[in-house]
Amino acid sequence: MLNKIGLIGGGYIGGVLLQEIVQRRLAREVGMSDPAPFVNPSDPPDRQEVAKKQSVSKGKCLDVAEGTPTIRSDVRCVGSKDYSAIEGADLVINTAGVPRKARPDGTFPTREELLTINLKVTAEVAEGIKKYCPDAIILSIANPLDAIVYTLDKRLAPPKGRLFGMAGQLDSGRYCYFVAEAANVSVENVTAMVLGGHGDTMVPVRSSCQIAGIPVGKFVDDATLAAIESRTRKAGGEIVGMLGFGSAFASPAWAALEMAEAIIFDKRKIIPVCAKLEGEYGVDGLFVGVPAIVGAHGVEQVIELDLTDAEKAALAHSVADVRKTCDEVDTMLASL
Ligand code: APR
Repeated sequence: MLNKIGLIGGGYIGGVLLQEIVQRRLAREVGMSDPAPFVNPSDPPDRQEVAKKQSVSKGKCLDVAEGTPTIRSDVRCVGSKDYSAIEGADLVINTAGVPRKARPDGTFPTREELLTINLKVTAEVAEGIKKYCPDAIILSIANPLDAIVYTLDKRLAPPKGRLFGMAGQLDSGRYCYFVAEAANVSVENVTAMVLGGHGDTMVPVRSSCQIAGIPVGKFVDDATLAAIESRTRKAGGEIVGMLGFGSAFASPAWAALEMAEAIIFDKRKIIPVCAKLEGEYGVDGLFVGVPAIVGAHGVEQVIELDLTDAEKAALAHSVADVRKTCDEVDTMLASL
């Protein structure tokens, strides 16, 4: 159990994280910071006054706190409209930003299109962390994932391994789920890794996919696997298109908690994470999805897989995409 977990962003994912942290008793205290509802300067003054008094994070925290006697959990919950609720956190999980949302015509923006908005939010998030919990391990979920983690690194320059992103666990979970469905076996039997950027060029690594330790090809044919891998790359968008109000929230929260528990219980568990590479996989200075040992200190060691030539090429393509977005980030940050 940690002393405190800070949640930045109290929307859909933040809400699931709050409930699960309290239910699983992962820390003595959980603090949630979210400025919502935002005060709209063009609203009449009386409406602005109402919005100033309201607070999504305080409301969610009080709701969960009032349920703690029922579930017999002594985890304390504090919410704030500013960043004070994350004060002293040992681990901070960042979901602040605007998620992908379907437009009225059914199309939706790419993660990269959200970059401009979310970079400004991330600048505030970095200031909040710097002020209230500068030594925390930082796990970031907000999209575009690779670029936001890169931005936090530029702004905070934390020690190696103490800042990383959640995407690979979610994407791998999706790959495993589709394979389990196709093979008609328990999801517990399927293991797989999805590497690279958290975008349409992510790389489901077929050579790492096994069912009860047996290569997946014994159970699922190549054409079906190719269709599954293509669906995996677009799985986030599939949900955005169905929901209409935002993006997936239960599975991303659970994926982040898988990583949080590896830290809290010092599991040294191998999980695909968006980690800073310093020469591994031939990449330097970018955050890319790779398998890594996660323990009490965060990302403790990046694991280099023996990829097939096709997988290597696909990873290089995905890394090139991440690099392009990070170059845009560098340009935007210079003007922020
Ligand atoms: N500081 C803190 N929180 C902020 C800030 C800020 N500067 N700006 C916005 N937020 C809050 C919003 O008020 C909102 O409550 O971030 C929250 C985001 O929650 P949702 O819109 O419900 O989005 P969610 O589904 O939780 O996804 C969060 O994770 O998977 C990604 O693409 C997704 O980037 C998105 C993030």
